[in-house]
Amino acid sequence: DWTMEGFIDSAVEKISKIEGNVLCGVSGGIDSTVAALLIHKAIGDRLKCVFVNNGLLRLNEETEIETMFKDNFNVNFTSINAVDSFLDKLKGVEDPEKKRKIVGEEFVNVFTEFAEKNGPFKWLAQGTLYPDVIESGVSKGPADVIKSHHNVGGLPDWLNLEILEPLRELYKDEVRMIAKILEVPEKLFMRHPFPGPGLAVRIIGEVTPTKLQISKVASKIVEDELVEAGLYGKVWQAYAAVGDDRAVGVVGDERKYGNIVMIRVVDSIDAMTADWTRLPHGLLEKMSNRITNEIEDVTWVTYTISSKPPATIEPQ
Ligand code: XMP
Repeated sequence: DWTMEGFIDSAVEKISKIEGNVLCGVSGGIDSTVAALLIHKAIGDRLKCVFVNNGLLRLNEETEIETMFKDNFNVNFTSINAVDSFLDKLKGVEDPEKKRKIVGEEFVNVFTEFAEKNGPFKWLAQGTLYPDVIESGVSKGPADVIKSHHNVGGLPDWLNLEILEPLRELYKDEVRMIAKILEVPEKLFMRHPFPGPGLAVRIIGEVTPTKLQISKVASKIVEDELVEAGLYGKVWQAYAAVGDDRAVGVVGDERKYGNIVMIRVVDSIDAMTADWTRLPHGLLEKMSNRITNEIEDVTWVTYTISSKPPATIEPQ
């Protein structure tokens, strides 16, 4: 019989047989957290967790993640502030796949530096799920790549780290069940999935401090209003994207050429396909009013009504 308890037992048994230390990049998301806790159950402090603040996270997320790891889990945990180096490397870059590549490479740089100082490590653990494996076309060859996912393999040989991916056969809902069994705080395992390259793929075009701030604050408003309406847990992902398009608004007596924010809320079971969520108009109106009132730069708010396919969940 296939049960999640059975999966945990057999994963822990398999992992406990490995030799050497494991380096695990934790994002604060459910996938890497569950991967880390499974490995910790098997090998204790031979696992070292590293969290990289890349400046591309949700509003105040870095503080929440640090607090959670320090207060709830008894794992070896280090937080690295790499905001400046990530944003520096992203300057002037508009192409979505280039942005993904840069973020992925910079993660590798930061991990490599940490590994050199705190090693030796034999393994690099990742929270890769089954849909990530499929969409990256790993089993089908490079021609089938839909979008590159930086967290599937791809590390240079000279790093000498083997990849440990304990969640490789699982779907998201199964990972949530495991999180519950491992007593991960509900607040975390009910949080929507968030892409590895973070806001770099939710900001269309160049990542600038202004666009970052708009996306962070507007996304927080979208999330808070969904929670308030009792709908947060019912949708798959919800955020506000921003690009370089502008539209005119009126503030007092003046015309103002401000930013356009795109709200995106989707239903999905595995991210392979997704349907745009038919949110009540009153709720959309509230989100829109708050975004334009609370964020000075924003004059227009739109709602994205494309499903996947043909669209993807993220705009980049
Ligand atoms: P798309 O936009 O391809 O997204 O429909 C499918 C799911 O994957 C997430 N996503 C990513 N996750 N690295 C990640 O770790 C990435 O480069 C990446 N791109 C998209 C997205 O948030 C959605 O859940």
